[in-house]
Amino acid sequence: MGKLSASGIAYWAVVLFSWQAAAQQATPVPVVGVQAGIDPWTGQRPARQNINDLYLLGGPQWDLYILALAALQDANEDDELSYFGISGIHGTPHRAWNGVEQVPGGSKSGYCPHGDILFPTWHRAYVLLFEQTLVSHAVRIAKLYPSSRSPTYQAAAQVLRQPFWDWASQPALPVAVTIAHVTVTGPEGPVTIRNPLYNYGFRRKSDVKDLGFGQNTTLRCPGTDGNNATESDRRMANVASHLKTQVWDVFARTKTFEDMTFDSHGGASFENPHGLVHNEVGCGNTMGNIDHSAFDPIFMLHHCNVDRLVALWQAINPSGPMFTTVHPSTGQFGTAPGTNLTADSPLKPFFAEEGGFLTSNMVSDIRKLGYTYPEIDDWSTTPENLERLVRSRINTMYGETSSNLDAGPTQRRGQRNRYSPPARTRQYYVAEIQVNRSEIVRPSAVNLVLDGVIVGRMSLLEMPRTGLASASVPLRDLVVGNRSVTDMAASEAISLLQQRLEMEIRLSDGAEISVDTVPSLELEIQGMTYVPSLSADRFPRFGGATRRPVAVHKVVGPIG
Ligand SMILES: *[C@@H]1O[C@H](CO)[C@@H](O)[C@H](O)[C@H]1NC(C)=O
Ligand SMILES: *[C@@H]1O[C@H](CO)[C@@H](O)[C@H](O)[C@H]1NC(C)=O
Ligand SMILES: *[C@@H]1O[C@H](CO)[C@@H](O)[C@H](O)[C@H]1NC(C)=O
Ligand SMILES: *[C@@H]1O[C@H](CO)[C@@H](O)[C@H](O)[C@H]1NC(C)=O
Ligand SMILES: *[C@@H]1O[C@H](CO)[C@@H](O)[C@H](O)[C@H]1NC(C)=O
Repeated sequence: MGKLSASGIAYWAVVLFSWQAAAQQATPVPVVGVQAGIDPWTGQRPARQNINDLYLLGGPQWDLYILALAALQDANEDDELSYFGISGIHGTPHRAWNGVEQVPGGSKSGYCPHGDILFPTWHRAYVLLFEQTLVSHAVRIAKLYPSSRSPTYQAAAQVLRQPFWDWASQPALPVAVTIAHVTVTGPEGPVTIRNPLYNYGFRRKSDVKDLGFGQNTTLRCPGTDGNNATESDRRMANVASHLKTQVWDVFARTKTFEDMTFDSHGGASFENPHGLVHNEVGCGNTMGNIDHSAFDPIFMLHHCNVDRLVALWQAINPSGPMFTTVHPSTGQFGTAPGTNLTADSPLKPFFAEEGGFLTSNMVSDIRKLGYTYPEIDDWSTTPENLERLVRSRINTMYGETSSNLDAGPTQRRGQRNRYSPPARTRQYYVAEIQVNRSEIVRPSAVNLVLDGVIVGRMSLLEMPRTGLASASVPLRDLVVGNRSVTDMAASEAISLLQQRLEMEIRLSDGAEISVDTVPSLELEIQGMTYVPSLSADRFPRFGGATRRPVAVHKVVGPIG
């Protein structure tokens, strides 16, 4: 047999590629996560790691994470399992993926549901698809190391999982995403490469144009040579306390899956702080636009953390079902607006291994999905103990034990058993904000301002474009004049908040939009009683037996 000429090789590459593409269409890619690998320390399924820990520790897992992500980004954009292909599921380019076509009446958008009951479970399947693809590259790369190193790298690849960015307790951008170049140990020794966490570069000019990107890479806050992380950090620092209090508030106050997950129904949910991160992390550029956000490599770190918050919530509410109520869809590429959604509705375009689409019920239990999180060691103890452990970890990470809210009552020594002082009923205030999305410019933020200081923020993403959006913003540790509202009688506190709280609407660049242009914007201040918890593994008790009727005061129409 003669030598293959260069054109011969190219010919075979084309044939092979078309064959792969055809094979891919014939059998849709199932989303199963990584069903391999045992953590050598726990003897259980591996945990997704905090990105800051993974970066600081370095070593084979970090090397493989970076090299696998770089390989994924280098894969041909026409391959549905390339970085470009997977990122394109979320928003642009609004085309069929995995052979899943647009439905009649389907929106001109990607497949991602926001403001929608499927928000947490759809994104769980999405992170899972990304993770299994990333790890398949890591497994392949690990085999390329010299025999002295390969076993260590192959073992590291088995336990590699998608890392997360815990923005509610570590609001600064992870250092790992801020450096333009990174040095890792590759199969041939140390190499310095473009950092695949810094940005993603489009190789086809047509994508930059057709997808509506202003430049040939993803962009956060613009700097001289790419991203300005200092500016991203400044913006994240501005919302850090809101992120932390909102996240804790969801854990402490929501009791049903549907309340916890999405922001179209009033009450606290993880979707609002999630949206704040989208809007603040990158000055409203790539991450602030639902159509583009998944192309920024920080997206998966962010959504892995949203999934972690949902998993933590599930760990402390183990007996509850997924959602049991029916909700109309806001509409996506694969789902017509108004479609009634249940926990058995398809999570398009993600297929289950046994055929058919994945459903929320099928991804409800992370024990079946091949990963856990560092705080969820669900094999080591009884479900009741796990609940207590996870609650105390949540309090440590997101509670404010030094604040008025959680401080035990003051009392004279020796009066009673000082180790179990009686819990005194206090007041807890939240602002409920609601707006009709179609009336307000998006992406934007609705700020609650008290005496010139922003004390709460609601985020509005560009999508969905219609329907009601709501946010529940805890008003903790507020000082009006020079008195803490916690020390006031409820009626006085609520009437002071009514008089002094103002709302303002701001775009990403800081420009203000008059609240008068948004007649549907409503603010409601709620006061409720709570009994502080005296132990670290519990939450305060809200309302309930000790509840006194506290009027819910409503400010009709916009104020300020
Ligand atoms: C983007 O454009 C800049 C300036 O023209 C160029 O230096 C850079 O290599 C391009 N990046 C990619 C990923 O094409
Ligand atoms: C980056 O952001 C910081 C903080 O906002 C600012 O002081 C600095 O001038 C910016 N740098 C560039 C190169 O734009
Ligand atoms: C959704 O369910 C409601 C009742 O729960 C029903 O009235 C409505 O017609 C259903 N909509 C669709 C599009 O099936
Ligand atoms: C929102 O406002 C639009 C335009 O004014 C209106 O058509 C729509 O019915 C409103 N939606 C809700 C949920 O109130
Ligand atoms: C609170 O403020 C008022 C006026 O603003 C002032 O007269 C009073 O001394 C202050 N009280 C304290 C305890 O600082």
